[in-house]
Amino acid sequence: MKKSLVTAGLTALLAISMTACSNNTTGTTGSTTTQPPASSSSSTAPASSSSTKAAASGYSLVPKDTNGDGLITLGFAQVGAESGWRTANTQSYKDYFVEKNGFKLVFADANQDADKQKQDVRDLIAQGVEVIDLAPVTDSGWEPVLQEAKNAGIPLIVSDRQLSVSDDLYLTYFGGNMKQEGDNAVKWLEDYIAKNNVTGPINIVHLQGTMGSTAQKGRSQALTDALAKHSDWKVVYEQTGEFTQAKGQEVMESFLQQNKDFNVIYSENDDMTYGAIDAMKNAGKDPKAPIIISFDGNKSAVQMVIDGYIDVIAECNPLLGPQVGDLIKKAKAGETIPKITYSVEGVIDSANAAEKIKTAFGS
Ligand code: AHR
Repeated sequence: MKKSLVTAGLTALLAISMTACSNNTTGTTGSTTTQPPASSSSSTAPASSSSTKAAASGYSLVPKDTNGDGLITLGFAQVGAESGWRTANTQSYKDYFVEKNGFKLVFADANQDADKQKQDVRDLIAQGVEVIDLAPVTDSGWEPVLQEAKNAGIPLIVSDRQLSVSDDLYLTYFGGNMKQEGDNAVKWLEDYIAKNNVTGPINIVHLQGTMGSTAQKGRSQALTDALAKHSDWKVVYEQTGEFTQAKGQEVMESFLQQNKDFNVIYSENDDMTYGAIDAMKNAGKDPKAPIIISFDGNKSAVQMVIDGYIDVIAECNPLLGPQVGDLIKKAKAGETIPKITYSVEGVIDSANAAEKIKTAFGS
């Protein structure tokens, strides 16, 4: 397969061989790496030194069966249902947090609305749930709500996306390292360019996720850092597609109407990637021409790697339910748990897609 610079009317100005893709396949979806408390160094440390008692960071709450029904009631403040990743994430909580595992689940869907989500957490506090899991839409403005949960004696776990708050306001974080995911994607592109002797400008269409979410901030920051390193890389269009397929298609359509040259799409999730590919097809452009970089790793996206539409996916693991459940059980038993646990994630490209599709999430 050949990749080429996509222009308004011409599609073959820059030919790039696709036969020697980089094989950056570190990590296994589902495994984790632990980090020290946010107040300590942020570099990776061995589990023994990175783990800490929740109390060590000034957070003294531990999960308890306060109503004595033999189960822990988890209130899950979920982002919404914007993507295939989100659907898989919700399902992993619904499957795990059931009576046979010692839990009851109260589910709140914020519909991607950061203000509604703050009210959702307040409602969970008022209902007297025994633990709260917050997957935040955006990362700011959470101090008052987290303080209210703490005052009510309800331990709060942050999952999926991190928060810009002091670490004494939550028990633990579990989920992706979004900046690392972005760095993985950028590294793949750097390796690809080097291996294939790509010359000439790298004109990037940047489809961003929900603005203000750490998923967007980390992945966008990785690209910003790369632009500072590579004088021939340029973002020719940047717009949020809000992590949805419909919006991804819409913003790609408006970009294509501008008739600008581009040869890379950096799309911060699979759903926006599907939308961008549809927009190209509808506009009569060859969606296999640009280098397409995506994030997540839905089964259908991995199939699109195999089929040559997507070149690389930086993995983001949504199957967090059982691992969060395990942390709650450990904390309840008085065991040491890490302040931050990042999923270990690599990249999926033509070198490993056939293997990765066997365990990919979603449909
Ligand atoms: O926070 C994880 C991100 O949120 C996923 O990449 C995206 O698909 C989802 O909507």
